[in-house]
Amino acid sequence: MSKKAWGGRFDEELDAIAARFSASVDVDQRLWPQDIDGSIAHVRMLADQKILTAKDAKKIVAGLEKIRAVIERGEFEWDADKEDVHMNIEAALTEAIGEAGGRLHTARSRNDQVASDMRLWTRQACHSIATDIDALLLALADKAEAHVDFVMPGYTHLQRAQPTRLAHHLLAWCEMLERDRSRVLDAAKRMNESPLGSAALAGTTFPIDRAATAEALGFDRPMQNSIDAVGDRDFLLEAVSALAICSVHLSRVAEELVLWSSEEFGFVQMSDAFTTGSSIMPQKKNPDMPELVRGKTGRVVGALVNLLVMLKGLPLAYNRDLQEDKAPVFDAFDTVHDCLAVLTGAIASATFDKARMAEALHTGHLAATEVADWLASRGVPFREAHHIAATLVDRAHQLGKTLAELPLETYREAHASFDATVFDALDMETAIERRDVPGGPARNHVTKAIDELRGRLETRRGS
Ligand code: ARG
Repeated sequence: MSKKAWGGRFDEELDAIAARFSASVDVDQRLWPQDIDGSIAHVRMLADQKILTAKDAKKIVAGLEKIRAVIERGEFEWDADKEDVHMNIEAALTEAIGEAGGRLHTARSRNDQVASDMRLWTRQACHSIATDIDALLLALADKAEAHVDFVMPGYTHLQRAQPTRLAHHLLAWCEMLERDRSRVLDAAKRMNESPLGSAALAGTTFPIDRAATAEALGFDRPMQNSIDAVGDRDFLLEAVSALAICSVHLSRVAEELVLWSSEEFGFVQMSDAFTTGSSIMPQKKNPDMPELVRGKTGRVVGALVNLLVMLKGLPLAYNRDLQEDKAPVFDAFDTVHDCLAVLTGAIASATFDKARMAEALHTGHLAATEVADWLASRGVPFREAHHIAATLVDRAHQLGKTLAELPLETYREAHASFDATVFDALDMETAIERRDVPGGPARNHVTKAIDELRGRLETRRGS
């Protein structure tokens, strides 16, 4: 930046390395739509308040709209010598309309300007992540609906535990994603206050109307305290925390897809469009997309840590450190957006293997809980019933049989109250249907949950 911009105190130009070190336009130029919107709201308010003439304001607005069009056409020349997005646009304005351009910055500072731009940018980014999440939820709802009758083992400790439905498992992912969505929107809601008018940190002597600019930009209200408005970035911490949690969820989903697509599980086959081969092993189809989703979590969690450390110990109000907020925030949003889009495609195009899932139900003695429940429902204390079922599992294991293959005498030896109805309880489909509790895997609860999810998605798409 030519030192002329800072006024008479500077005799020397900024050192080249210092200039390169402090320029941020490469990163912050993507704030241009918010920067222009913010400037237009500001200048209109200045005219309404008679701080600027209507004539100057008109000129400025027209100039900014022209710059918007040039940027949209990809013809704007961003100049690192002009430091950041704000100075680039203001310089272009003054070049285009002359003296009036120099009046735009009346009653404003880059400190409240950048804080406003970031709030506007992040607000829309949060809404767009919510839309991305809805797309993934829709893909999951479709898969769940198409696979209500695919039964599979549910796992604890990655050991086959109890029978469930694929749809029930997919709906568990949906619940995680629903919470992620509401967290992101919650952050968007809380950040929706306007810093404009806080100026450098202590407001301004001009008779501005903060409520008017807040309203013009869709903010709920002006921020309460000008020092806080320019000095804090907790709105970014909150948004990126929500993204980090979402990323961790996506990573867990991705990990299950990686496991399930292995030869060992064989529950799912990813489509060719979402797998890659190996350059050396011709037999391979690798689940790279979910692996990358899992791997990219580090970037998003890293962005959160980056922001937390940047803010820790920072005195109020604005410090140049805050310029470093943009790269991690943009990267976190871009990464989560991509991960959601890739998972949506990968899941929508995946094929589940009904036979392999059902087969996995028949080893691992998943019926053991059914045996214990059968006894407990006939008055045997559950702890004792559990012990008896365990001895039967042991017996089956020694004989290389399933619980259903043991003869009734073996059951009777374990406990006198056993009769042939115990075998009905061992059927896996029956075992699932008997879990007839809200939130459970019985068919009626699963289909109800899918319907409710679809209903929510429809309402949201309509709104
Ligand atoms: N590029 C700066 C940032 O992103 C704009 C604010 C500059 N303010 C200042 N006092 N130097 O933080």
